[in-house]
Amino acid sequence: HDLGIVAVGFAGGQGKAGVDAAPSALIEAGLLASLHDDLGYNLHGHDAVHNYSDLIPASPELDPPYRGMKNPRAVSAVTRRIAEQVYSHAREGRMVLTLGGDHSIAIGTIAGSAQAVKERLGKEIAVIWVDAHADINTPESSPSGNIHGMPLAFLTGLAKEDKEEFFGWIKEEQRLNIKKLVYIGLRDVDPVEKRILRENGVKAFSMFDVDRYGIGRVMEMALAHIGADTPIHLSFDVDALDPMWAPSTGTPVRGGLTLREGDYICESVHLTGQLVAVDLVEVNPKLAPETDLGAHETIRTGCSLLPPAVPPDGDPKHNVNVQDS
Ligand code: ARG
Ligand code: MN
Ligand code: MN
Ligand code: MN
Repeated sequence: HDLGIVAVGFAGGQGKAGVDAAPSALIEAGLLASLHDDLGYNLHGHDAVHNYSDLIPASPELDPPYRGMKNPRAVSAVTRRIAEQVYSHAREGRMVLTLGGDHSIAIGTIAGSAQAVKERLGKEIAVIWVDAHADINTPESSPSGNIHGMPLAFLTGLAKEDKEEFFGWIKEEQRLNIKKLVYIGLRDVDPVEKRILRENGVKAFSMFDVDRYGIGRVMEMALAHIGADTPIHLSFDVDALDPMWAPSTGTPVRGGLTLREGDYICESVHLTGQLVAVDLVEVNPKLAPETDLGAHETIRTGCSLLPPAVPPDGDPKHNVNVQDS
């Protein structure tokens, strides 16, 4: 089992420092060691945490807003590079794990896996987006100008831009079909985003649905919508979880998923055998409400989610303490 690792220390898609420190914190907490030693993955690309300093304008004045977007040149250039990195792993048939960074980096990860899957398998990917937020604002509808709230608008083509340095580099084969997008965990969606989801018939399971049906039924329905034999890219924003489990994140929203529901999502997606890529984003170890315990807990939570620890025989390894009869 080959796993490509892309460790992205990038925070330019939002305003709070610290989310760029997440990959190192996760790695120090033993994430990669456990992927390799305990789960037997053969790791590639795990030696470096990328900060893309060669791509980021040296001072803020060199990257003024464009169409209301903050740090647009930096985010565009960095995500373009990430797309190449993810693509080159996925083109070799490796599953790809990207450690963010803020959620703007999904512009790169999904562009890269969409193109690789199209070339290797002749198929469109599906995306399961686990998040409190819909992250589908256009530059014009965004209340904040933060690009981490816009990745799905650029990926689906709802937001269009010709200029290369402002995401004009995204090619048709790197896009995501909006019909193949499924949300889980939503509870803080902006008014224009709600309209976008409604008008495009996007499949979305909010926390209301998780409460009503339970996570088991929600995953059945989500996977049924995607259909069998469809490669899946799982983009996991840690703020989908309740702040009780993941307090150290830039835009926490109360009333979220439990740790076990988060694990279950990852496990059941992996059990399909169709998982091609995972993003883990928005862990911010510098934001630790109350005590440093918050950061510690959030890091541990991140480690528990990854990998979706299910071996090919379909036996969830998470519960190794449960004995075989
Ligand atoms: N909807 C808000 C915005 O557009 C918040 C987005 C939060 N996104 C995230 N990836 N945490 O600014
Ligand atoms: Mn194996
Ligand atoms: Mn979010
Ligand atoms: Mn997000």
